[in-house]
Amino acid sequence: MRQSLRISIAAATLALAGCGGGDAPPPPGPQYPQNANLWAALGGDAAAPMAVRKVVSDAVNGLLADPMEAPYFSKVVGNTSGDSSQHDTPARLEACLTLQFSALLGGPYSYPGPVTVPQDTVDPQPEMCQDMASAHADVGVPGCVFDQFITDLSAVLDADLMAAGFTQTQVNGVLGQIAPTLVGLKATIVSPQPIYFPPNSASSCAS
Ligand code: HEM
Repeated sequence: MRQSLRISIAAATLALAGCGGGDAPPPPGPQYPQNANLWAALGGDAAAPMAVRKVVSDAVNGLLADPMEAPYFSKVVGNTSGDSSQHDTPARLEACLTLQFSALLGGPYSYPGPVTVPQDTVDPQPEMCQDMASAHADVGVPGCVFDQFITDLSAVLDADLMAAGFTQTQVNGVLGQIAPTLVGLKATIVSPQPIYFPPNSASSCAS
């Protein structure tokens, strides 16, 4: 699944953006210029990268602590090989999420794109993040677990932005601006053949 991506790494690196998993190449420059106000509010190029890294780190810690979401990440958590050719390493997951949220929050990035993951000692660097359909193709995400992820992510954004000095109104503005894009990814992330881990079952998770 990942081999085809490797071929495009060199070209994509030159362009500082690239294609993944058969997607059309992302647009050059910022992918979400309409969200440039969010990047500026987070402190622009000087401070926003650190703010995004904190949001992603808190979100990953939260989903690994959530009994509904954690089982889907067992292969990632268990991947200490430094090789992400079969499954993400934890460091790669965090790096790709950081790139994706940096783009979504109006930064000068596009997703999928290249990331440098020093912990992936076996992988040629930089490595290419996957598009959402390819990344989740064998994860088996059910609809209700996706919804739980969005709920938890909103809570993390709320807490982190409030701690950074945003007002509740500003936080609500940020959430309102990025939620449609995130929720719009549901169709590509949720699996037609979902895998259920207790306490979920097909009947308890019918979305
Ligand atoms: C809007 C919601 C979501 C976004 C934006 C998102 C984003 C991402 C990103 C950027 C990656 C890394 C891709 C790469 O390494 O190339 C990834 C991988 C992954 N995601 Fe998601 N994700 C979402 C929802 C979920 C949910 C709900 C689950 C399951 C509970 C999930 C499970 C995984 C797993 C297990 C991987 C690693 C797959 C592997 O390498 O084996 N994701 N996701």
